Amino acid sequence: MSTYELSRASYDLSKRYLAGGVASSLRAAMKPVPLFAESAQGAIVRDVDGNEYVDYLLAYGPLILGHAYGPVNEKVYAAMQCGITFGLQHKGEIELAKLLTEVLPCADKAVLSGSGTEAVMLALRLARAYTGRSKIIRFHGHYHGWSDSIYTSFPSADMPSASASASAEREHAVPPGTAGQSELSLRDVILLPWNDAAALEAALDEHEGEIAAVISEPVMCNSGCILPRPGYLELMREATASRGIVLILDEVITGFRLGLGGAHGRFGIKPDLVTVGKAMGGGFAVSGVAGRAELMALIENGTVSHLGTLNGNCVATAAALATIGELAKDDGAAYVKMEKNASKLTVGLRELLGKHGIRGVINGIGPVFHFMFTEQSVVEDFASFNLRDSAKYALFAERMLDAGVLVRTNGLWYVSAAHGDAEIEATLRAADRVLGGLQ
Ligand SMILES: Cc1ncc(COP(=O)(O)O)c(C=O)c1O
Repeated sequence: MSTYELSRASYDLSKRYLAGGVASSLRAAMKPVPLFAESAQGAIVRDVDGNEYVDYLLAYGPLILGHAYGPVNEKVYAAMQCGITFGLQHKGEIELAKLLTEVLPCADKAVLSGSGTEAVMLALRLARAYTGRSKIIRFHGHYHGWSDSIYTSFPSADMPSASASASAEREHAVPPGTAGQSELSLRDVILLPWNDAAALEAALDEHEGEIAAVISEPVMCNSGCILPRPGYLELMREATASRGIVLILDEVITGFRLGLGGAHGRFGIKPDLVTVGKAMGGGFAVSGVAGRAELMALIENGTVSHLGTLNGNCVATAAALATIGELAKDDGAAYVKMEKNASKLTVGLRELLGKHGIRGVINGIGPVFHFMFTEQSVVEDFASFNLRDSAKYALFAERMLDAGVLVRTNGLWYVSAAHGDAEIEATLRAADRVLGGLQ
């Protein structure tokens, strides 16, 4: 049995000074205690009690090359010797923006920010300024950061939704995600079921001339890693383009994870704007918005403000350039490795479910997948995702921790280029033991 005594003591101490004891609210959910890390290297993280884990949390996604990846750290360190941030322009910004326009198929131009939340805020602002309209369509089960402009209570199946036939009052009832958020901030947000072409078309017809943007994760990574149904993203693209609506694909998770061109490159869909973050910086704080020149022109001509003291700082640009450079090496060998290992894991986990007679579903694409316990045979929309046994999964996650594997409590697994055969095999052995005890 692992002990977590020092993590528990650190948590108690932290709570005396750091409100809530964790730096991002979600982290408090971890059982048996929010872990305190001591150090990490590659695919392995070590906590303050000396326990070591194969890490599939990967800091909620960014660590695509694993922890403390030497070649990236060296480039960041070298950049830091010349100054960390200037509030002036520097060549790293040009190089990174140019690289984004080369690898992201939808990008004529790009801008740089610090977090996914900021990137989404800017994309929504560009869409409203460009169209002169105010309403935004977003979807159940998607997460686009915690800004007032888009954050709803993390959607659940029973929350009020704006179906195609919903009245204006119900649309306005999209609930804020947190106390302290003005209800007015979501007045223009319409919430729809995802992967439902009819609901989307009906809402677009009902609100003809009012919608500025449709924002969507291209794969519903935040709720079940659910793939778009065949033709759904294509329909979303056509239906928005024909109505002059800006299509924003939020690729904060999928960008640089599903390939250099993100999900839109992989699926061959060209959104008007794309938001990227997480894997782009390999763990350093950087994000971006990229897209069509006409939209970006609003920043160029001063119509839309885009601000941020640390935007484009030398650490961020060096980290992103180095991370993307590593991912691009040898024709994307890192992606081939990650996909092979993710596939070994998902095949192995499915076999173990069969062996132990446990019903479950694993949805995934490339090096990200969602593992859930459910009586459903397929989970391809938010309603069926909500039928999973999340308490059982949380118990599984807690026991996996005890067996030396760190997985997120909600079921989303990330695989990095640092994971190899040894880690995958150790993970499957641990899962075998844990699943055996769960029946
Ligand atoms: C799809 C998506 N968009 C935006 C965000 C917000 O990014 P950040 O946490 O960097 O602000 C997230 C974070 O998980 C995300 O998954």
